[in-house]
Amino acid sequence: MKRLLALTAAAFLTLPLTPAAADPAGTPGAPGAGDPYFPGQGNGGYDALHYDLTLGYDPDSGRLSGRAVIAARATQALSRFNLDLVDTLSVRSVTVDGRPASHAQSGSELVVTPARPVRDRRGFSVVVRYDGQPTHVIDPDGAMDGWIKTGDGVYNANEPQGAITWYPGNHHMTDKATYRFTVTVPSSRVAVANGDLVRKASKGGRTTYVWNSREPMAGYLATVSIGIAQLTDRRIGGYRVTTSVDPQAAGDATGFAERHPPVLDFFSGLFGPYPYSSTGGIVDHAPEVGYALETQTRPIYPRVPSQSLLAHELAHQWFGNSVTPTLWRDIWLNEGFATYGEWLWADKLGTQSVQAAFDEAYARPAEDDFWQVPTADPGGPENLFHAPVYDRGAMTLHVLRGAVGDAAFFAILRAWAGEHRYGNADTAAFVALSERVSGQDLGALFDAWLFKPGKPSL
Ligand code: ARG
Ligand code: ZN
Repeated sequence: MKRLLALTAAAFLTLPLTPAAADPAGTPGAPGAGDPYFPGQGNGGYDALHYDLTLGYDPDSGRLSGRAVIAARATQALSRFNLDLVDTLSVRSVTVDGRPASHAQSGSELVVTPARPVRDRRGFSVVVRYDGQPTHVIDPDGAMDGWIKTGDGVYNANEPQGAITWYPGNHHMTDKATYRFTVTVPSSRVAVANGDLVRKASKGGRTTYVWNSREPMAGYLATVSIGIAQLTDRRIGGYRVTTSVDPQAAGDATGFAERHPPVLDFFSGLFGPYPYSSTGGIVDHAPEVGYALETQTRPIYPRVPSQSLLAHELAHQWFGNSVTPTLWRDIWLNEGFATYGEWLWADKLGTQSVQAAFDEAYARPAEDDFWQVPTADPGGPENLFHAPVYDRGAMTLHVLRGAVGDAAFFAILRAWAGEHRYGNADTAAFVALSERVSGQDLGALFDAWLFKPGKPSL
């Protein structure tokens, strides 16, 4: 307390002595974050801290109207800066710190020129009002991504680039932020987002859902999923489990909520504490999408998930969501780890041992194309979710485990999740951490498994 007072006094004393810097004109923020797989993704010159998104959606007309309030901090003096948003949505107005700002849209770049430059290291607030008929984008691998319409609403999965289809932001995964979602839909529908449900209120045939996502989140992990569904929000086994299930969903959803705590307890024991204030899942009927996504706190599934898919998406909460790569080419840090989570859970259930899962994956013949893709760089955005990223990634972890032993291996996983909690880290950091924790030189192992094409020998 005393120290705090002394500091405060010192701060006051130095204030008048610091000459007021001339307002610098600033320079434009970079239009991308510098990721070679998606050069336009993300933006430079500022750090987004919080998104307060107010959305209204009508599934019948497909119309979205949105207001995004973005709290950010400048990392350079900015004459202008970009946000990422598709230009098929119309931006009606932008303000910066309450003053009208001029704006231009081109492709997925929204260029904002504030009335006055934003000074370096200043906090500032951007308000974007926009509307239109959102549609999904097609990824380099051919998958639908973003605001994907279903028969009754929206399947909203955004990895790697779908966030541009429904809200403006700094959409590279290195800029994490907290979120609040206020979503109004016809009362026949449910709107589910990430984090904790804080309010639900109906008026005039429409229902507003407010979701608070208090831990930092990368944009590709945000979701606002809308449809006819049964919503449950309960405490089970020490977790707040919030689920929504489309009655049309394929599969047996009985006990879906109850299936989460055992998996989370098991992973907490191996990886360290579960990183989020709530959990659960969104089960939709979306056979045309086909894939699930580890949307933060609450994965989204196109059908009722199997035990292995559930384990995969829940393992991502530690690996991918809490610890996030710095570049897309490091995607094995997500998918290899989540696949290893599947193997661990199957072993725990007695379905298949980890060793048997490894042997099955390793049995691919050496001349198979599978082995030509090095784990740590799949070669391009079209290969992000290819089998080598998942299976060779998981095999890499199993070989590491064999080399350092169980104690060091799980200490490495816990240190990875603990030291980079809510942050970003790359493959080089994982290699360095593994060597530090195990005290071994793992150069040859990682070289063969992560960086070189070809089937590594055992
Ligand atoms: N991360 C998701 C999972 O492994 C897969 C996302 C696939 N996205 C895509 N564009 N193909 O569960
Ligand atoms: Zn995955």
